[in-house]
Amino acid sequence: MRLGVTLLALVTSLMLLLLLRLFWCPVDTSARSRQLVEESRGDTRGASTALRTTLRSPTTPVPRTRNSTYLDEMTPKLTDNCKNLQYSLKSLSNKTRRYSEDDYLQIITNIQKCPWRRHAQEYENFRAKLASCCDAVQYFVVSQNNTPVGTNLSYEVESKKQIPIRENIFHMFPVSQPFVGYPFNHCAVVGNAGILNKSLCGAEIDKSDFVFRCNLPPITGNVTEDVGNKTNLVTINPSIIALKYKNLEGKIEKFLKDISNYGDAFLLLPAFSFRINTGISFKVYQTLKKSNARQKVLFFHPRYLRQLAFFWRTKGVTAFRLSTGLMIASVAIELCENVKLYGFWPFSKTIDKTPLSHHYYDNKLPKRGFHQMPKEYSQMLQLHMRGVLKLHFGKCEIP
Ligand SMILES: *[C@@H]1O[C@H](CO)[C@@H](O)[C@H](O)[C@H]1NC(C)=O
Ligand SMILES: *[C@@H]1O[C@H](CO)[C@@H](O)[C@H](O)[C@H]1NC(C)=O
Ligand SMILES: *[C@@H]1O[C@H](CO)[C@@H](O)[C@H](O)[C@H]1NC(C)=O
Ligand SMILES: *[C@@H]1O[C@H](CO)[C@@H](O)[C@H](O)[C@H]1NC(C)=O
Ligand SMILES: *[C@@H]1O[C@H](CO)[C@@H](O)[C@H](O)[C@H]1NC(C)=O
Ligand SMILES: *[C@@H]1O[C@H](CO)[C@@H](O)[C@H](O)[C@H]1NC(C)=O
Repeated sequence: MRLGVTLLALVTSLMLLLLLRLFWCPVDTSARSRQLVEESRGDTRGASTALRTTLRSPTTPVPRTRNSTYLDEMTPKLTDNCKNLQYSLKSLSNKTRRYSEDDYLQIITNIQKCPWRRHAQEYENFRAKLASCCDAVQYFVVSQNNTPVGTNLSYEVESKKQIPIRENIFHMFPVSQPFVGYPFNHCAVVGNAGILNKSLCGAEIDKSDFVFRCNLPPITGNVTEDVGNKTNLVTINPSIIALKYKNLEGKIEKFLKDISNYGDAFLLLPAFSFRINTGISFKVYQTLKKSNARQKVLFFHPRYLRQLAFFWRTKGVTAFRLSTGLMIASVAIELCENVKLYGFWPFSKTIDKTPLSHHYYDNKLPKRGFHQMPKEYSQMLQLHMRGVLKLHFGKCEIP
């Protein structure tokens, strides 16, 4: 009996090892670098997108509930295969080797066969870790509370540079964190990947209590049925203000019109990540204020982002800078009870090898080498396997 169990365990580990070796199958360097997924969607250098959560009624705390809303998707029994997959994913993240896109797609194919269920204990543990390193509840965005007049605020990336916070800057900050109503029950974090094209996920996304989006993505017209249009917080990468709105020197009307699609969302900018971001971020604030826009501007707290980068670095994500998607997903875990990620798919094709566009709205190619997308993605896959968050990969059921 005991011998049988031991043998079984031995055979299983051998097969796992074999499987792992297959995943590491080396390819020639140029092919590999072509295949590697280097960039997060929608994020470009020098202008990190910030995540803004729109909190509708910051003063009414939402009662904590342990019930998952994704009941229809859960089957509580993890098969042994799925458990093994969890272990192999974990050890993958410890290797310095890089994996090709096809390796990832193979792993995800297996993951998709496993039932997903929220794991309350894992969720609490992970949230507690994030809270002790980073504390999004207090420090996610700069506020008058956490950044008094006279502070010399260090930049996130150019951390030797500081900006003195005088009255004129201070009054742009909200008095305190607008997130006092946390935790929100169901949050959707919507990435911009091409996999959302024809996903029909719009209705499901819009049912969430809070919807985070990245870098002013289109949400009107034909894309609405795939991505929804509810937006509580949307990040703005300062580079999009330069590219699309001429740094707000002349395209102000267009900017205001585009922004109006997001209702009363928070617009979140990384004003204090690079010095070059600061002026343009303030300009967004002033432009919206002058026109009495409904949207509120927030700035990522540079300290929060530094701590968060440090947190993920201890898990092997050593990129120059985290992607906006990982920043937002981390924030959402602290602020929400149930986190579901849509449009996170840093690959050029589907599981069935159908080619995909880079974004659901265009096919601009990502810049290489800025983020560490494969490492980030394997972390997200691990959180998915552990039941901390749910990555949505495919189409949505139409109700
Ligand atoms: C959770 O769901 C169960 C069964 O559906 C229900 O009895 C219970 O009241 C729910 N709890 C909360 C906090 O919603
Ligand atoms: C990864 O490596 C670290 C340090 O070497 C070790 O503590 C940890 O247990 C490893 N994790 C896994 C899943 O192998
Ligand atoms: C901020 O920097 C200025 C000039 O370097 C210095 O005079 C001031 O004391 C600093 N303030 C704080 C709170 O450290
Ligand atoms: C929406 O899709 C239809 C049919 O696919 C197309 O004719 C129409 O031009 C599209 N509209 C927009 C705004 O893209
Ligand atoms: C979202 O889309 C629905 C239907 O497509 C529309 O009725 C609603 O007005 C839109 N909401 C916003 C904020 O644009
Ligand atoms: C979305 O998918 C359709 C085919 O399903 C394709 O014709 C269209 O170009 C895609 N849109 C983008 C932005 O890639």
